[in-house]
Amino acid sequence: MSKLVAAAARARKLAVAPYSQFLVGAALLTRRGEIITGANVESASYGLTCCAERVALFKALTHGARDFVAVAVVARTNGGATPCGACRQLLAEYAPTAVVFTADSRKLDQVRQHTVADLLPAAFNGGDLSASD
Ligand code: THU
Repeated sequence: MSKLVAAAARARKLAVAPYSQFLVGAALLTRRGEIITGANVESASYGLTCCAERVALFKALTHGARDFVAVAVVARTNGGATPCGACRQLLAEYAPTAVVFTADSRKLDQVRQHTVADLLPAAFNGGDLSASD
């Protein structure tokens, strides 16, 4: 867990957040022990910003990684930042059983723990794609 939090803290330093200056790092751990990291990337068209969690998830998925057992998120805020609603949805789809660790970048030894289900109860599951009526 501390190794994953440390990886997220290192990733955070690579955030591209010129508008908010709020740097976030994320690190995913797979069942095989791989760690894939990401950081937030902002756009001048603010709404195009992609959170650290989604950058990490998209990187991981497109490298073929699956079976995520944990994700760490590090930001400079009390208790760390919990994932936003959009990231919770993606986590519910691709990392539903992952433990979510959050930490303040100034206090990496104080880690809070959540589950994806706690963060997004009753997540949308894609619906019934075979229904035509
Ligand atoms: N952000 C993340 O990367 N992850 C979170 O969990 C919360 C918010 C980013 C998006 C934006 O670049 C900045 O933090 C301010 O909202």
